[in-house]
Amino acid sequence: MEISPLSNALGASVTGVDIGKINQDQFAEIHRAFLDYQLLVFREQQLDAEAQIAFSKRFGPIETRPDRPFTLPGYPEVTILSNRLIDDEPVGVISAGDFWHTDLSFGEIPCRVTFLYALEVAKEGGDTEWSNIYTAYDALSDKMKERIAELSCIHVFDRRRNKRTKVDTQFIDKAEEVYGVTIPDAVHPMVRHHPETGRKSLYISPRFVVGIEGVDDDEAQSLLDELFEHQIRPEFRYRHRWRRGDLLMWDNPCLIHVGHGNIKPPGIRHMHRTMVLGDRPH
Ligand code: SIN
Repeated sequence: MEISPLSNALGASVTGVDIGKINQDQFAEIHRAFLDYQLLVFREQQLDAEAQIAFSKRFGPIETRPDRPFTLPGYPEVTILSNRLIDDEPVGVISAGDFWHTDLSFGEIPCRVTFLYALEVAKEGGDTEWSNIYTAYDALSDKMKERIAELSCIHVFDRRRNKRTKVDTQFIDKAEEVYGVTIPDAVHPMVRHHPETGRKSLYISPRFVVGIEGVDDDEAQSLLDELFEHQIRPEFRYRHRWRRGDLLMWDNPCLIHVGHGNIKPPGIRHMHRTMVLGDRPH
């Protein structure tokens, strides 16, 4: 197995391994690399849903939500992300992740690791990009670190309550059905400690964070604007051009990401996503 860094910001590519058949030593090496690089790219994988679920489960309890749209029939653990239409009807979520975010941070127990497997990719468009919120935190001034040290943020699922996002066009006629689900808001520390490394990250994102607990809204919004801009500085980022057979896994407590979309027709991008849950942010 060979592990090679993908950028100065984050990420490594892992070759010479079949994810469907890894042994305990390979798993330990992958786990170590995952903590060191935060995102791993495995090229040329051939994974069915069961193999993807089995690999995901090695990192924690798998997440399922019974009312989530577009799960793979028979596999509630797998969500289909796809721009394919059959009889004008989408077969998957068309533009998942179109604003910078960290997965499921609106939950009391957010997602630890996300796994995204490319079954089909488009010739143009469909890149995903990550930003390293460990290094974003490290790069803050001491004064800012002190200012935010004890703050907690309000994370909200419903896009209609977030002035920095808009309702997904795919769900515009079903906004109440999709976003009105009863998911209570979550309150998480702005500075999060990683559950394994203990490193601090700037755990916020424009997709989910709408306010700061106990801070006047004008002051909160202006601080959030400043930090949202800071956390996506170019030097913290890695952008991935997908190839068919890529399996990517990323560490949500220390990365935010965005799906760039813009798939040029008639290109089809068809992916299977699984997620495992982590700890309560602290
Ligand atoms: C996601 O944010 O879950 C998916 C991102 C992508 O499809 O590029």
